[in-house]
Amino acid sequence: MLSTVFLTLAAALLQACTASPVLSPLPVSEGLQFPKPIPPKKDPWYTPPDKHWVSKPPGTLLRVREAPGNFTLLKHAHKVYNLMFRTTNSQNQSEWAVTTVFFPKSPAISKDGVLPLLSYLIPYESACLDASPSYSLSEYLAGERLNVAVRDNIVKALGNGWLVDIPDYEGPKASYFAGQMAGHATLDSIRAHLKVFAEHMPLIKLRYAMLGYSGGAQAVEFAAELQLKYAPELIFSGAALGGVPANALDFFRACSGTIWSGAVVQAIVGVMNQFDKVEQYAMSLLKREKRDEFLSAREMTIDESLRRFANKNISNYFKTGEDGMENVISKEVLASDCTMGNLGTPQMPMFIYQSIHDEAMPIKNTDVLVEQHCNNGTKITFERNTIGGHREGGVNAFRSVWRFLGEVMGGNYTTPSKCNITDTSYNFTLTSDGISSLRR
Ligand SMILES: *[C@@H]1O[C@H](CO)[C@@H](O)[C@H](O)[C@H]1NC(C)=O
Ligand SMILES: *[C@@H]1O[C@H](CO)[C@@H](O)[C@H](O)[C@H]1NC(C)=O
Ligand SMILES: *[C@@H]1O[C@H](CO)[C@@H](O)[C@H](O)[C@H]1NC(C)=O
Ligand SMILES: *[C@@H]1O[C@H](CO)[C@@H](O)[C@H](O)[C@H]1NC(C)=O
Ligand SMILES: *[C@@H]1O[C@H](CO)[C@@H](O)[C@H](O)[C@H]1NC(C)=O
Ligand SMILES: *[C@@H]1O[C@H](CO)[C@@H](O)[C@H](O)[C@H]1NC(C)=O
Ligand SMILES: *[C@@H]1O[C@H](CO)[C@@H](O)[C@H](O)[C@H]1NC(C)=O
Repeated sequence: MLSTVFLTLAAALLQACTASPVLSPLPVSEGLQFPKPIPPKKDPWYTPPDKHWVSKPPGTLLRVREAPGNFTLLKHAHKVYNLMFRTTNSQNQSEWAVTTVFFPKSPAISKDGVLPLLSYLIPYESACLDASPSYSLSEYLAGERLNVAVRDNIVKALGNGWLVDIPDYEGPKASYFAGQMAGHATLDSIRAHLKVFAEHMPLIKLRYAMLGYSGGAQAVEFAAELQLKYAPELIFSGAALGGVPANALDFFRACSGTIWSGAVVQAIVGVMNQFDKVEQYAMSLLKREKRDEFLSAREMTIDESLRRFANKNISNYFKTGEDGMENVISKEVLASDCTMGNLGTPQMPMFIYQSIHDEAMPIKNTDVLVEQHCNNGTKITFERNTIGGHREGGVNAFRSVWRFLGEVMGGNYTTPSKCNITDTSYNFTLTSDGISSLRR
């Protein structure tokens, strides 16, 4: 049924340049192309091609296809692919994951063959597989519902001529808030790209950095902590992260009973999706009459969940109240997957940004994390912004984030000799600042 086609991905990449001997076609493992994207729960493409994938090394490419959906709506996007690759879940078992990679219209390949690749971890924060960006991005684009900050970050990177890699870092179990799953998938996505380029475009060297806010920052941070042990061969140029959920319990306490309650539900259900033992324990702790309502989060995007659970006291879903919410995830899993700072020291320069008045992710936890990593040798620039809360924090640091990314990708970043922690007062709106002109 499936015919093997060879897509000239390389030609796509270098369309703007003259014919280049460095590029050869990328073999695409299936030719079946859906005119419209199918939700991952129903799309047979979201199944590994054979049983042998479990024993392949992490980062092995398992499947490639041209991404379904109409991405021409996104300015500067040329070709968009889905890659499936082998990764590792939070329990050190073989897992697979999917990423979506955008090729820019005018790739910025330097004279010495360096091409920047931005690993952009978008905050999809849902325990529903169909909320994975490989599917939801094109749906959101078609419906004009794509978060403006997310869209502008993608368009800005593509406009710079960078590749943009957007992994479904929660994996096939939609394990939102399972930190190691997210970190491994992020690292293995980079490995998959490096392998593709080494094999098919060996004269191009990828230079890569990460960007993520909120749930995306969790993936960035765990990837950064895990890198030295899990993927020691990777050399990141930098990592930018903001609105950092450094401590699960403080995040739950801060958000329960607020407009952010739905994020707490998604996080708990996401961790249940990853760990059977958490699932079993949660089922025994949830009040029988409220269980279905709680678990309905499994069918929701983060926006739907925020609406559905707005201002609900999450303790009220548990037989043991406050104690239930705080103990539903075992101490062991909280430590390994939901609390930052326990798995290693990031080796790349970092830029961290957060609103001092972030009402969802209390900044005191980020302060502690930054101090710990700095003491262990990570070079961090930390901008604590006096204006705005969690939502605004994703946008107020836009200029600083892009200055940092521009320098680490341009190869002209001067790593500070020690950490630089500053209070700033940025008040930036995407629409009034010219960034909106990047949009179509
Ligand atoms: C894709 O989007 C472009 C830009 O909006 C539009 O012109 C084109 O008709 C769309 N193609 C399909 C197949 O929907
Ligand atoms: C994870 O599994 C691999 C291969 O099975 C093994 O080499 C490694 O030691 C394990 N790591 C941990 C932390 O258990
Ligand atoms: C939620 O309810 C618990 C009692 O079940 C109470 O102790 C707690 O203060 C409430 N939280 C909020 C944010 O209202
Ligand atoms: C980092 O520092 C903390 C103390 O601030 C220490 O407990 C931890 O073990 C260190 N981690 C690494 C990976 O060195
Ligand atoms: C760093 O290099 C990039 C790419 O070459 C360039 O666009 C940028 O202006 C440089 N920045 C600085 C501060 O020199
Ligand atoms: C420290 O960071 C602030 C804010 O990003 C910046 O303005 C300042 O120049 C930095 N200082 C040093 C010594 O790099
Ligand atoms: C930030 O900008 C917004 C809109 O431009 C404005 O309404 C708000 O008052 C500003 N906040 C501060 C603290 O300057």
